[in-house]
Amino acid sequence: MLNVSNLSFSFDNGERVIRDMSFTAGKGERLCLSAASGEGKTTVLKLIAGLLTAESGKIEASGKVGMSFQSDALFPWQTALQNVKNVCEEKTAAYWLDAFGLGSDFDKKPGELSGGMRRRVSLARAVAFEPDILLLDEPFNGLDSECKEKIMALIAGHFSSRLIVFTTHDKSEQDSFATRVIELS
Ligand SMILES: Nc1ncnc2c1ncn2[C@@H]1O[C@H](COP(=O)(O)OP(=O)(O)O)[C@@H](O)[C@H]1O
Ligand SMILES: [Mg+2]
Repeated sequence: MLNVSNLSFSFDNGERVIRDMSFTAGKGERLCLSAASGEGKTTVLKLIAGLLTAESGKIEASGKVGMSFQSDALFPWQTALQNVKNVCEEKTAAYWLDAFGLGSDFDKKPGELSGGMRRRVSLARAVAFEPDILLLDEPFNGLDSECKEKIMALIAGHFSSRLIVFTTHDKSEQDSFATRVIELS
């Protein structure tokens, strides 16, 4: 389902960020890419999503790929509901926003939401897109522990027969959400 082989990548400044990385992952996995800040976690997800192009090596991903970004990447001029509706029908958007605790915030724009609320809108959009491979870049940042547990359970349940690749350096998030952890070094 996802096959990464001998992947290498450098930015224009020539700094080699990813060096000869290989792994495979399949349906039902929640694979965590773990590393300290600046070690290349976001870069790997962007390469899998096709937002960056590998310098050498190969990425084979079968099915539809969706991603939630570390920066949320919401359209500031759209409401929470409109942001999610960009990828699905209105009732699906409403369902996920409500499930993620934003039932009273449909009409608020990102500027009127807290960081944790924006993160939940961003996650709702990624989930509502219904990808076969769901990429989540530090998905649980800024969420309090109760909300985090609930969202983890909802996402894990909904994607139980698909592949999730996510990043975090947080050991407790790895313990509660990952089925496997790869350390980038
Ligand atoms: N657009 C860019 N141009 C040049 N260097 C970058 C760019 N984006 C990230 N980097 C560098 O690549 C390395 C990996 O970044 P990143 O993948 O964002 O790491 P992480 O997500 O693990 O914190 C860092 O050293 C960072 O400074
Ligand atoms: Mg990152």
